[in-house]
Amino acid sequence: MIPITNRIFRLLRSCKLHRRCYHEVSGDILVPGQIRGMDHLRDARLNKGLAFTVEERQALGIHGLLAARVKTMDEQLEICRTAFANYNHDLNKYLYLVDLQDRHEKLFFRLVSEDVEKMMPIVYTPTVGLACQKFGLIYRRPRGLFVTINDLGHVFNILQNWPEPDVRAIVVTDGERILGLGDLGACGMGIPVGKLTLYTALAAIKPHQCLPIVIDVGTNNETFLNDPFYIGLRQRRAQGDAYEQLMDEFMEAVVRRYGQKTLIQFEDFANHNAFRFLDKYRDSYCTFNDDIQGTAAVVLAGIYAAQKVTGKKVSENKFLFLGAGGAAIGIADLLVKAMLNEGCTSEKACENIWMFDKDGLVVKGRSSVESNDHRIRYEKNHPHTDDFAEVVKLVKPSVLIGASAVTGAFTREILQMMTEYNERPVIFALSNPTPLAECTAQQAYDCTQGRCLFASGSPFPQVNFNGKTYITGQGNNAYIFPGIALGVIVSGTYHISDNFFLIAAKVVAEKLSDEDLSRGSLYPPLSAIKDCSLEIALGVMQFAYENGIASTYPEPVDKIAFIKSQQYDFFYENALPARWQWPTKPKRKFCQQYDNCKK
Ligand code: NAI
Repeated sequence: MIPITNRIFRLLRSCKLHRRCYHEVSGDILVPGQIRGMDHLRDARLNKGLAFTVEERQALGIHGLLAARVKTMDEQLEICRTAFANYNHDLNKYLYLVDLQDRHEKLFFRLVSEDVEKMMPIVYTPTVGLACQKFGLIYRRPRGLFVTINDLGHVFNILQNWPEPDVRAIVVTDGERILGLGDLGACGMGIPVGKLTLYTALAAIKPHQCLPIVIDVGTNNETFLNDPFYIGLRQRRAQGDAYEQLMDEFMEAVVRRYGQKTLIQFEDFANHNAFRFLDKYRDSYCTFNDDIQGTAAVVLAGIYAAQKVTGKKVSENKFLFLGAGGAAIGIADLLVKAMLNEGCTSEKACENIWMFDKDGLVVKGRSSVESNDHRIRYEKNHPHTDDFAEVVKLVKPSVLIGASAVTGAFTREILQMMTEYNERPVIFALSNPTPLAECTAQQAYDCTQGRCLFASGSPFPQVNFNGKTYITGQGNNAYIFPGIALGVIVSGTYHISDNFFLIAAKVVAEKLSDEDLSRGSLYPPLSAIKDCSLEIALGVMQFAYENGIASTYPEPVDKIAFIKSQQYDFFYENALPARWQWPTKPKRKFCQQYDNCKK
C-alpha cells in the first residue's frame, strides 16, 4: 500500500495510469482492487448505470460519461420491466436479458429474481431451448468455457484462462441431449448459462462463483454439421477412449484449479453417458446429475404433494413410466429410496414401478437391456409388448409419468383409463420443451373429468374446466438444484448424498399450501423457489454436519444467518470505500447541479 497525496493522484490521472491499473482511493491510501473510468462502466459487475452518485462519478473518473440524471436502482428496474414487456417474441426477450446481463449484472439478477414467474420461462425452459437451436445466429459475447476434444492434454490451461479464481460451482454439458431437442453440440451452452443464472437468481449464489462449461467433442446433428452458422467443432462426435480421457482430464483439472469441493453439475448428457459418469465420478468428486437426481427430487416432491389429496403413501402407489431414460430411472431410483424409508423392502418397491420405452415394456430377457443397465431393477416377468395402452390396462397405475419426449403419447384413451382405476389419478407429462409434452394440462383435465392431479415439465397456460380455472404446477428442477448447490457450497461437502434429494423433495412439498393445491398445482408458485432454496440449503447443511460430511468449520451456530452471509447481494454497493475522501474537493456547482437532477 502506498500513501497517496492529491498530487500523486493527479499525476497518476494525468498519466492515465488510473484507467488500466486497478486501484482504489481509500482515505489517502492507494490500494489494489478498483477499476476506474470507462472500464468501470464497461465492467458488468461494477456497472450501476445512472445510479452512480455524484461523488462516485467524480472519484471513479466517470463524470461526464453518464447522462446527468442520478437514478435509483428501482427506477432503472422499472425501465427494464417496460423494455422486457415491449418485446413480443420470447427469443427477443431472451436476447434483451442476455444483453442486460452482459452490461449490468446486478440489475439483471434483481430483475430475474424478483419476477421469477415471468423471467424463468425466458432464461430457462422453454425459451432457452429455442435459444440453443439458434445459438449460432445469436452468439454475441463469450460466456463460459468451451473445452474441445482438440484440447486433450491441455484442459487445465484452458481452465486457467477463466479469469475468476473463486469458482465454487460448474454446470457442464456435452450438448448431446439438450432438453428433449436432441444433439445440439456446442449450441448447448445456453443450458449451463441458464442453469447458473438460476443458481444466482433463485439461491443467491454469487455469479462470479459460477462457471458454465461446454465439452465440445463434435456433434452428430446433420443440420448443424452443414450449417455455416454453427459455432462448435464441425465434426462427428468423438467417442470411446478419447472422449473418456477428455472427461477424466476435465474432472481432474477442475479439482486442480478450483479444489476438491467444487460442485460439478452434469446437465443434458445423453442417457448412455449420464449414468456412466454419475456412477464413475460420484464417489471421487463433488458431483451430481440434474437430469437424473434433480428431476427425481422434483417429481418426488409432486408425489408427496399428491399424497395430501390421495392419502396414499409413496409405497401404496403403482407407477408407470413412459420413457426409461435418465429422467425416468432417476425418478424410479429415488422413489425406491423413499419407499425404503417408509419400511418397504427393495423388491416390493421395485415391483411397484413399471417402465415402457421405445422398445416396449421393460421385461426380463429383453435384448436391449444390458447387465449394467439401470433399467434391470425394474424388469418384469411378463411377455414383451409394445402397446402402451395395453400396459396401462395391465398395470392399472395410480401415477403415470411421461419422460419420453413423445408429443401427445398420453392419448384420450389412456387418460380416460386412468380415471377408471383411480378416483384422483396422478399424471406427470414431464417432457420438455412444451411442444414435446405427453399431453397438455387442458387435455389431462378434459379427459379425466377434472379429476387428475397434473404436473408438467414446462409451463402450460391455465386450464378452464367446468367453469373453474386451474393453474397447474411445473415440476421444474429449479425447485431443487439451486438449493442443493447452495447447501453444498456453504457446508463444503466433498460428495453429494442421495439424501440431499430426499430432503429437497420434502421441503418443496411442505411449501405447497392448501390454496395452491386447490388451484390444481402440486408445486408452490415459482415465486416461492427462493424460500425453498434457503430451506433446502439449511436441510442439506444440517444433514452434512450430523453425518460428518461437512468441511466448513467451525460449524455455524445460526445456520440460516451463516447461509445468508454467504449469499449474493442483489442491491448496489457503495462503489467507494467507506473511508474514501475527495482527492480534490468537488466543485460546488456540480453538486448543486446533480442535487437538482436527483430531485
Ligand atoms: P433420455 O433420452 O435419456 O430418455 C428418453 C426415453 O424415452 C428413452 O428411454 C427412450 O427409449 C424413450 N422413448 C423414446 N421414444 C419413445 C416412444 N415412442 N415410446 C416410448 N418411449 C420412448 O431422456 P431423459 O433425460 O430421460 O428426458 C426425457 C424427457 O424428460 C425430455 O423431454 C426431457 O426434457 C424431460 N425432462 C424433464 C424434466 C423435468 O420436467 N423436470 C427433467 C429432465 C428431463
